[in-house]
Amino acid sequence: MTSAEFIHRPVMFEEVMGVFTPLEAGVIVDGTLGAGGHSQGLLERGPQRRVLGLDRDPSAVEAASGRLSRYSERFIALHKEFDDLDGALAQACQSDNRFCGSPVGLLLDLGVSSPQLERGERGFSYRLEGPLDMRMDPTRGQTLAEVLDQVDLDELTSLLRMNGEPRFAYRIAKAIMAGMPYSSTTQLAEVVKSAIPAAARRTGGHPATRVFQALRIKVNNELEKLETALGKAFKLLLPGGRIAVLSYHSGEDSIVKSLFREQVTGGCTCPSRYGCVCGAVPKASYVIRSKAPSAGEIEENPRARSARLRAIEILEVDDSSDGAGNG
Ligand SMILES: C[S@@+](CC[C@H](N)C(=O)[O-])C[C@H]1O[C@@H](n2cnc3c(N)ncnc32)[C@H](O)[C@@H]1O
Repeated sequence: MTSAEFIHRPVMFEEVMGVFTPLEAGVIVDGTLGAGGHSQGLLERGPQRRVLGLDRDPSAVEAASGRLSRYSERFIALHKEFDDLDGALAQACQSDNRFCGSPVGLLLDLGVSSPQLERGERGFSYRLEGPLDMRMDPTRGQTLAEVLDQVDLDELTSLLRMNGEPRFAYRIAKAIMAGMPYSSTTQLAEVVKSAIPAAARRTGGHPATRVFQALRIKVNNELEKLETALGKAFKLLLPGGRIAVLSYHSGEDSIVKSLFREQVTGGCTCPSRYGCVCGAVPKASYVIRSKAPSAGEIEENPRARSARLRAIEILEVDDSSDGAGNG
């Protein structure tokens, strides 16, 4: 796919750019490069910035590299997963010493890109015929077919329940197991649909939307990777550095919310009416606690509708006082 064909409209573009405005120079990591829309904005609006773009999908890396080739002086794209943030930074530093040292920013725009969803052969879409794949990185890991082959009914029920299909998880899981093996995504989608009571089928969107999302999250280990990446970013970013995360699913948003809160409160668990009396030291402050896209953006780009943007700034912490009053 050429960069002209690989099109994804960046979500909450102005809001994301706004988070990074104070960071005029330094390395910003775009951990979810996709088609490169956010990276392009970061490069255009910060002539002193360097951007390291990562994606686990080689076709995204290729397309974004082509699109952003005019910035090759200060842009590097790597086929890497964002939970390997430290490894990616080391690799970028090795290839260009202007990328050495601690980064000042990290952007994660989670989930899948439009080109991934719109190509049936990738197996993400319940509408387009394709194989049971769903791997964002088609060069490694287990396909959806392999995952389904290994899970039992209890595991499948709980992964559907936890990742977006709380109501009919058991019925759907049972129907999926009974219908194995599948020759295509559309066949799987039909089985999911028929497992849902007729009355419930008439409300909301296609029931396979939530089920396919839950399966995709499992196939790609999305929640574990998000936790690892944020844990590393809290340690790696310079004081004054900023982290912005766009999530599209309550499971990922609640991870971001709770990890950000832990940084902002310093892990203080005192009841809020007393203020913090345990001596916990905040390690970050909120830049954006939680923001949804405008109604206008959702109308123009319906894929933005479930987006939530959260952002924090890393604070300078005097290590000698860290946790002094704890216990
Ligand atoms: C919503 S798209 C990003 C779109 C991008 N912001 C733009 O403006 O075009 C998400 C991208 O993140 C990638 N991705 C998801 N999880 C990843 C991970 N753990 N490591 C690296 N890339 C990941 C996907 O392959 C996909 O290309």
